Order: sequence, then C-alpha cells, then structure tokens
Amino acid sequence: MDSAVAMARMAVQRALIFLGPPGAGKGTQARRIAERYGIPHLSTGDMFRDHVRRDTELGRRARPIMERGELVPDEIVLGMIEERIARPDCRQGFVLDGFPRTLAQAEALDRLLEAHGFGRPLVLHLVADEAQLLRRLAGRRTCKLCGAVYNMYDHPPKVPGRCDDDGGELVERPDDREDVVRQRLTSYHHQTRPLVEYYRARGVLVDVDGTADIEAVSHQVFALVDRIAVP
Ligand code: AP5
Ligand code: ZN
Repeated sequence: MDSAVAMARMAVQRALIFLGPPGAGKGTQARRIAERYGIPHLSTGDMFRDHVRRDTELGRRARPIMERGELVPDEIVLGMIEERIARPDCRQGFVLDGFPRTLAQAEALDRLLEAHGFGRPLVLHLVADEAQLLRRLAGRRTCKLCGAVYNMYDHPPKVPGRCDDDGGELVERPDDREDVVRQRLTSYHHQTRPLVEYYRARGVLVDVDGTADIEAVSHQVFALVDRIAVP
C-alpha cells in the first residue's frame, strides 16, 4: 500500500480551518485535504454561490452583498453553517474554507465545536503577497459543471476553456472583477485578519507559506495534518 493510501485511512477527528485572504488558495487546499482524509469540505462561499444559482431566498439576500465584495451578515452565515456541522458526515471532522471570517463567527464556532464534542481546531493560515493574490484571482476559472478550479497562469486546463474531467465550460467568478477584488481584500483586512491573532494567542494557528506552488503548499499542509491524525 503506498503511503498516500495509508494516510487516507487516518482519521482527523478535528475541525481544520483555512484562514487567509481571497486567492490565498483556501479552496484549492481544502479540497485536497477533504479528499485525502475523507472528511467533508465546508466552504461558505460555495454554499452561498449554490443558493444564488438556485435563486433561494438566502441566495437573493446574499447575491448583492457578494457582488460588492462585502461580507454577508453573521446571522445568515451562522444559521447555514450550524445546520451543516450538525449533519452526520461531520462527526469524523471537517475542513472549513472561508469560515469563520469575523470575531463573532469565530466565537460562535467555538461554541458549536464544544457542543459537538470537538477539541481545539487546527488553523492553517495561508500567507501570500498581494500582487500574487491579484494575479491568481484574475486568472481563476471555474468549471460550470463540476466546480473544479483552474488558473490561466499557474494551473491551466489541458484544452483552453474546458474542464479536464468533464469538458465543462470554464467561467470567471463575478466577484473576481478587479474593483470587487479590492473590496474583498479590504473586507479581509478589517474583519477577518484579526482572527489570525485570535487563534495565534490560543496556540492553535500555524503559518503556511502560500506563495509556493500548489503541490508544495499541499506538502506543507499534509505534513501538519498528518501530525494530528490518528490511525
Ligand atoms: P469565498 O468564496 O470564501 O471567497 P474568498 O475568501 O474571497 O476566497 P477565494 O475563493 O477567492 O480564494 P481561495 O483562497 O479559496 O483561493 P483558490 O483556492 O480558489 O467568499 C466569497 C464571498 O462570499 C465573500 O466575499 C462574502 O461575500 C461571502 N462569504 C463567504 N463566506 C462568508 C462568511 N463566512 N461570512 C460572510 N460572508 C461570507 O485559488 C485562487 C486561484 O489561485 C485559483 O485559480 C487557483 O487555481 C490558484 N491557486 C491556488 N493556489 C495556488 C498556488 N499555490 N500557486 C498558484 N496558483 C494557485
Ligand atoms: Zn468539470
């Protein structure tokens, strides 16, 4: 059995949190973690985009806020995540991507983790520089069919404009327009960045060099998670 398969049988039994600015690679790495350890990937951004696509009441409330690059109000996010964490597939641990994003969300998550019998989370803080974030977001393309994420510059599909897995059309995210990206970065600095100190002070945060290529970042992240996983 190769080591990747052996590792896949290890249980995480923790909440893993990816923290970092837009374009840092949270979604990319969270998807890889979910696959490797067989735990669900909980992306609040993906959940909201799904509501927008289905034109639900929640989607209609979130859409204009997301289009401006601002944060959706805490009570909406919390209701959605609370329901998701309570589902049985989260009992063996899960990976959070894009949540928590405010101090109120982090405090609510602490209460939720305690209520569900989880210990301290592991927070993976992806660090990247701003020029890199802008370039990654400008180059991001997402498959309309399966949601796979590519990058025109750093991680292009084999056939331009088409998903490698299912040939689906690759599209840009509406909030990746430059003016919206600026607002998303501002929202991050004002509302989310303080969480770095919140978690660092509690000794649960690890800085990860997010400037490296995707494989190299995964290598760092897997090594950290392997350390807390149990056979
Ligand atoms: P959300 O979907 O969470 O967006 P975000 O935080 O801005 O993060 P991104 O998805 O843009 O970036 P990422 O770090 O996941 O990067 P990715 O891996 O895709 O939120 C969207 C909106 O929803 C928010 O603005 C807000 O309105 C609302 N929302 C969501 N959650 C909320 C909450 N909790 N509270 C309130 N509102 C909320 O990578 C980006 C690109 O770079 C890709 O093309 C990828 O291929 C490439 N790439 C990744 N890693 C590397 C690498 N190492 N090297 C080279 N390229 C790379
Ligand atoms: Zn696809």
